[in-house]
Amino acid sequence: MKNFKGKVAVITGGASGLGREFANVAAGLGMKLVLADVQAKALEQATEELLEGGAEVLSMVCDVSKASHVQELADSAIARFGAVHLVFNNAGVGSGGLVWENSEQDWEWVLGVNLWGVIHGVRVFTRAMLECAQRDSDFEGHIVNTASMAGLLTPPAMGVYNVSKHAVVALTETLHHDLEIVDAPIKASVLCPYYVPTGIAQSHRNRPDDLSREERITASQMAAQMMTERAVDSGKLTAHDVAAMTFEAIRDGQFYIYTHPQALASLAERFEAIVQGRPPADPYAATPQLRDMLKAGIWGRR
Ligand SMILES: NC(=O)c1ccc[n+]([C@@H]2O[C@H](COP(=O)([O-])OP(=O)(O)OC[C@H]3O[C@@H](n4cnc5c(N)ncnc54)[C@H](O)[C@@H]3O)[C@@H](O)[C@H]2O)c1
Repeated sequence: MKNFKGKVAVITGGASGLGREFANVAAGLGMKLVLADVQAKALEQATEELLEGGAEVLSMVCDVSKASHVQELADSAIARFGAVHLVFNNAGVGSGGLVWENSEQDWEWVLGVNLWGVIHGVRVFTRAMLECAQRDSDFEGHIVNTASMAGLLTPPAMGVYNVSKHAVVALTETLHHDLEIVDAPIKASVLCPYYVPTGIAQSHRNRPDDLSREERITASQMAAQMMTERAVDSGKLTAHDVAAMTFEAIRDGQFYIYTHPQALASLAERFEAIVQGRPPADPYAATPQLRDMLKAGIWGRR
């Protein structure tokens, strides 16, 4: 997609962080916006700011883990704007700790948002876009799923998040192949950021009551929370930088969108170990301070 003006962008998790910045960049390019989020207040504020800037905005409180909410989002977008061209399946949450210490609720919550949210988004919006393409022979669509470098690496004490993001990478690669095999006028990309200062380390703010933490927080969960906060807060790239890079990548038809190319050395080591049948390579080889902080945190609290 080269021309964004007048086209319609749907952004889940659009009220804060990366999603909020996708909205800013999209509005700057003259796109019409559909914003979805569970945080009603932040969504209202984002909508007001974008409307003041002159954008056309439809915003909906929507829990992406629920199929009916995502279907309603797509139906409302089509009813309001007649088409959907660019979809960011971006809403996400995190939960850390040694993998056997995560509760069933941790798994349900994180997989519900990070994986089922993207599954619903792909299923519902790809179909909607294919229908748009049937009505308009010039139609061009693009779907960007937000994964993470944790979708390509397997850092310790992040098992639930890693699983959700690896699945998003697999889903998006398959989406790419499936779109190609039917010559659909729709492209797919997977965004794999490393640490970027946003609200992600505080994502428990959006945890629903019925999936709240029932067990006592463990030493590893505290250590993972502390390490994530430090790593996220010290990220050098801003959410706006990532959004700008992402639009550049969409323009160039790039599939894998990496925000921190320096993290790719760990990826190469991971794949080399896989191919050679060696044990998994150290995901923190390039940033040993994060591993050391995590380890000290876990042992210091035992
Ligand atoms: N910030 C980072 O360091 C980083 C790194 C890699 C990947 N990511 C991914 O980027 C995406 C955006 O996160 P962010 O960093 O901007 O964090 P953020 O917390 O600032 O934004 C996430 C947004 O998702 C919304 N959300 C949470 N649960 C939802 C649900 N069930 N339905 C709809 N919306 C929901 C939140 O309200 C919030 O507005 C996530 O998928 C995250 O996993 C972030």
